[in-house]
Amino acid sequence: MRIDVFTLFPEAFTWFASQRHVANALAHGHELTCINYRDHTPLSAGQVDDTPFGGGAGMVLRVDVVEAALRARYGTDPVALGGRRRVIALEPGGRLLDDALVDELSAEPELTLLSGRYEGFDERIVEHFASDRVSIGRYVLAGGELAAMVLCDAVLRKLPGSLGHEQSAVEESFSAALEGGPEYPHYTRPADYRGWRVPEVLLSGHHARIAQWRLEQSRSRAADARRAPDAGGQARSDAGPERA
Ligand code: 6GU
Repeated sequence: MRIDVFTLFPEAFTWFASQRHVANALAHGHELTCINYRDHTPLSAGQVDDTPFGGGAGMVLRVDVVEAALRARYGTDPVALGGRRRVIALEPGGRLLDDALVDELSAEPELTLLSGRYEGFDERIVEHFASDRVSIGRYVLAGGELAAMVLCDAVLRKLPGSLGHEQSAVEESFSAALEGGPEYPHYTRPADYRGWRVPEVLLSGHHARIAQWRLEQSRSRAADARRAPDAGGQARSDAGPERA
C-alpha cells in the first residue's frame, strides 16, 4: 500500500512513522509519503490559505494550492484522480471512521489523504478532487493531521507484516472473529494482585473453554455498549455533523 499525505505539517508525522508497527509496514514495502502543500504553492511567499468569502473567523486552504500540489505529485489534472484512487479529505463532518471503513481502505493499493488546517478546505477542493470525506469523531480538531495519523495507524496495522503476531489483527475489537463486538479482557502476571484474581479459566490451559469464555465476554461487553451507547456504541453515528 502506498499512502500519500498532503499536509502543511509533514514534520508532525516523523514520530508516527517511527512507531514499530508503522516502521514494520514500511520495511515490508508499504510506503508513507508526506507532501507539503507549501512546497507547491503557485503564490508568493509560500501562501497556502486565505480569508473566507462572506467573512468569518480563520483561514481556508486554497483550491489552486491543493491543485498544484496534487498535479506535482501525480502529473495529472486532480479532477481525474478520484476515479483512479481514493482521495480522502479529512473533515470533522465526514463519514465516521470505523473498523469496516478501515478494512475497506486497507484493501486499496493506494490512498491519498488531504489534511486541512484552520477553518478547513475551500469546498471546491473536496467537491472536485476528493472521492471521500472521512472524520474520526464528532468533535473538531485544529487540523486534519491527527486524524490522518489515526487513519494511517488503523489501516497500516491491518496489513500483513505490520504486527508481529499475525493473529493480533484477526481476533480484536470489532473483528468478524468476535462477531463485530469489543475485545475480551486481557490479564498478565501476577495472577493475584491485592486479592484481585485473574479469572480461573484463563489459568486452566483449557483452550476451548478459554475461547468460549472470551467470546462470552465480548458478547456481554457488546450488550453493555448497546445499553449505554455513548460509552462505546454506535448509536450516535447517524447524528448530523457539528459545524466547525
Ligand atoms: Cl478528519 N478533521 C478535523 N479537523 N477535526 C476532526 C476530524 C477531522 N475528525 C474529527 N474531528
